[in-house]
Amino acid sequence: MIKFTFVTLFKDLISPYFDDSILKRAIQNEKIKIEFKNPRDYAKNKHNKVDDYQAGGGAGLLMYPQPLCDLLDEIKKNDPNAHFIFPIPSAKKFIQLDAKRLAKKEHIVFVSGRYEGIDERVIEKYADEVFSIGDYVLTGGELPSLVMSDAISRNIEGVLGNSDSLNEESFEEGTLEAPSFTKPNIFRGSAIPSEFLKGNHAIICTLKKEMSGLKTKYFRPDLFLRNVKGK
Ligand code: ADE
Repeated sequence: MIKFTFVTLFKDLISPYFDDSILKRAIQNEKIKIEFKNPRDYAKNKHNKVDDYQAGGGAGLLMYPQPLCDLLDEIKKNDPNAHFIFPIPSAKKFIQLDAKRLAKKEHIVFVSGRYEGIDERVIEKYADEVFSIGDYVLTGGELPSLVMSDAISRNIEGVLGNSDSLNEESFEEGTLEAPSFTKPNIFRGSAIPSEFLKGNHAIICTLKKEMSGLKTKYFRPDLFLRNVKGK
């Protein structure tokens, strides 16, 4: 069982994702547990304000330290082993290996920034890791937190029905997954590669490896080169 705590001003952006399909079942089967904490509940001013102007000027407001720090202190006090992740666009990219590694943790806290971000001192003090999910800027950390928690969850034993699907998919061997097909054998004039229909698993496996290599070389030359160099 892994626990995800989402620190966010906007719980409703995150919680519906866990109300359906695989992650809903994972919660029912006690493979994952989720909770939400709102920094606004820790603000000490009249209007529960959590944002303020940037020191030295600059466009947009930042989340100021006190509400977040009080909240994160409380989480830390209750669970000194909680692992704190801050999604930020300027961090290194989150990859499949991170998802696999983090699936072994017991408690991960995702701290979502809003507005123009979070006062850097909070990140410095609390972050065990910082991640970006891609080279673009989103309006807050909620989507990245969801993306990461989803990728982590499916690497937890028992969350996916068939663990073979984990071994064969993209990035597991540093390559993209080979194309796959279902019925009918011919659809609108386009046929499934004939070897897939003959049932010789050794041949299909070799074919899939070849396709996987070609696909990686074409779509992700960066990954392909990394594999070649790594060997
Ligand atoms: N916050 C805003 N944009 C982000 C991104 N691309 N990755 C992680 N956190 C973010």
